[in-house]
Amino acid sequence: MRSLERVEARAKVTGAARYAVEYPVENAANVVAVAATVARGEIESVGAEEVLALPGVLAVLSCENAPKLQSVDDAELEVFQSRRVAYRGQLVAAVVAESLETARAAAARLRIGYRAEDHHVLLEDASDDSDDSDFSVDIEQGDPETAFAGAAVSVDATYTTPAEHNNPMEPHATLAAWDGDELTVHDSNQGSTTVRDALAQIFDLDPARVHVVSPHVGGGFGSKGTPRPTVVLAAMAARAVGRPVKLAFTRQQMFPMTGYRTPTIQRVRLGADADGTLTTIVHEVTQQASTIRDFDEGATKPMRIMYRAPHRRAAHRLVRLDVPSPSWMRAPGECPGMWALESAMDELAVTTGIDPVELRVRNEPETSPEDGSPWSSRNLVACLREGAERFGWADRDPMPCARREGRTLVGTGVASATYPVNREPNEATARAEPDGRFTIRIAAADIGTGARTALTVIAAEALKAEPDRVTVEIGDSDLPRASLAGGSTGTMSWGTAVHRACEALLAELDVPVPPEGVEVTVGTEDELKAEEKYARHAFGAHFVEVSVDIDTGEIRVPRMLGVFAAGRIVNPVTARSQLLGGMIMGLGMALMEESTTDREFGGFLNHDLAQYHVPVCADVRGLEAVWLDEEDRHLNPMGAKGIGEIGIVGAAAAVANAVHHATGVRVRDLPITPSRLL
Ligand code: MOS
Repeated sequence: MRSLERVEARAKVTGAARYAVEYPVENAANVVAVAATVARGEIESVGAEEVLALPGVLAVLSCENAPKLQSVDDAELEVFQSRRVAYRGQLVAAVVAESLETARAAAARLRIGYRAEDHHVLLEDASDDSDDSDFSVDIEQGDPETAFAGAAVSVDATYTTPAEHNNPMEPHATLAAWDGDELTVHDSNQGSTTVRDALAQIFDLDPARVHVVSPHVGGGFGSKGTPRPTVVLAAMAARAVGRPVKLAFTRQQMFPMTGYRTPTIQRVRLGADADGTLTTIVHEVTQQASTIRDFDEGATKPMRIMYRAPHRRAAHRLVRLDVPSPSWMRAPGECPGMWALESAMDELAVTTGIDPVELRVRNEPETSPEDGSPWSSRNLVACLREGAERFGWADRDPMPCARREGRTLVGTGVASATYPVNREPNEATARAEPDGRFTIRIAAADIGTGARTALTVIAAEALKAEPDRVTVEIGDSDLPRASLAGGSTGTMSWGTAVHRACEALLAELDVPVPPEGVEVTVGTEDELKAEEKYARHAFGAHFVEVSVDIDTGEIRVPRMLGVFAAGRIVNPVTARSQLLGGMIMGLGMALMEESTTDREFGGFLNHDLAQYHVPVCADVRGLEAVWLDEEDRHLNPMGAKGIGEIGIVGAAAAVANAVHHATGVRVRDLPITPSRLL
């Protein structure tokens, strides 16, 4: 299959690609955010006067002087609208100064007075009956309790995940400038249309007077999917001082202020016949939210569709605590949910003595267990078989602790992966230029995924032109409105609009090169309203080999193979990076990533990359991502499913299952650190 290298590759490696606060701007002031130092309470005084007296300080913004903002459906964006403090690390004030150094020094000297209140910050401390959820996503089919009690074999285990943080390379950052009542922001986000609409609402402006520019974004993973307080604060500060301002959160500020994956406590009960045929799946999840913003991690989503079982229940419990607001992190729901379900499946394999690949194959559902819908395509079994073949699974001795090599125990594990095909409406413009080139316009976002390149491939195919004749313009709210780079929807949702616009343009052209240029704009809203009779999901399988040091418990992962069935892969070279990136993030989830909440003071104790560990090159060894050719006519004109998130789904379970195989120790709490093994 043909691959197109990233079209912005040269701009990125030469530094020509600019990120939010890198744009040169005359006379810009600098903003430094100030975070709450209590976990719950009220601001009694801000103490701005002392700081305002420092040379170079232009303004101190807080609940004492902030302009009234219109509210949107996200309390995190109600910057300085209240004296209440909902969590330690919450944005409570900001200093604007001539230089970044002055702003930082002044922010450090600001002495905010609080009236602190008692706080509750730990999910494991919450009583069993507390449930603050006002969303209902529970399901019940058949009679799970009776079926589980009568099952020939069963697994009943509780798995936990800690709070985990997205750590994009580029922090959340905004350069904001007003011209009268027109606002322009260069901002790091996962969707310029979404940020534009939010700013227009918050500052009560006509959306046409707000311009969001974000051509390059240094990662997001979900943390930039919702607009963040950075963009609101920067706009507010620029207006307050009548100058452009630059604001970038520090790494430490990102931890409380830009979302994280909620910790989860997940009890899974599997009931099966002696031959491993599942009769019952019960998945009960406890998660946390802040006191100001609900968030549903949806960890039972995958159990609804993975395996056949007539009796099933999914239940969620949400506990509101005095903690930062959880939000999206790569594959919200599927990722922690499959950690639990795929660990439990491995425990069932061990209990029944059935090979874990065969156990999954045996429980393959013909139609969606959720509602009986036919699959648009489902190739989980093919992924498991292909992976087993490539990995050399057939030679595996199922006995734990069977393989010792020098000072290490070696084991292998498998887990399934899945991610839904979510499609969003979009608009795109295709233009035939008088010089024979084509220009495509859509406010899509490339957060490092290769989206710009994939859209170039899609447009070139639809136009029957070479890719070097196609220019794709994205990352700007003045372009036709687009959905977020989120939910693994980008390539297929933006791509559908791009494909349709190109088709319509070709139909319009009566000469190949129109002297005046010809342009068409197409939206996909109506197309997506068409019947929804198919269950659309991507599937995959992870195969992992671990070696565990018998003295130190140090875990190494010499081999990790992911096999995916995700529709047609539009651009292999960037797709492979997406899948590998997801798997590496799964490796981090399995072995290192953990944000520790401070019971005494609230907030996170570790909030930088020295103490929040993510995999580095030395941790990533034999990593391979491959895919099956999957043809699916029920998706979109490209036949594509999403690939941004499925790589992380199930990866941690495959590592844990391999650790069990190597050592005989079943670790049910992530991350699998040496102290949990020894
Ligand atoms: Mo991703 S968590 O869907 O932005």
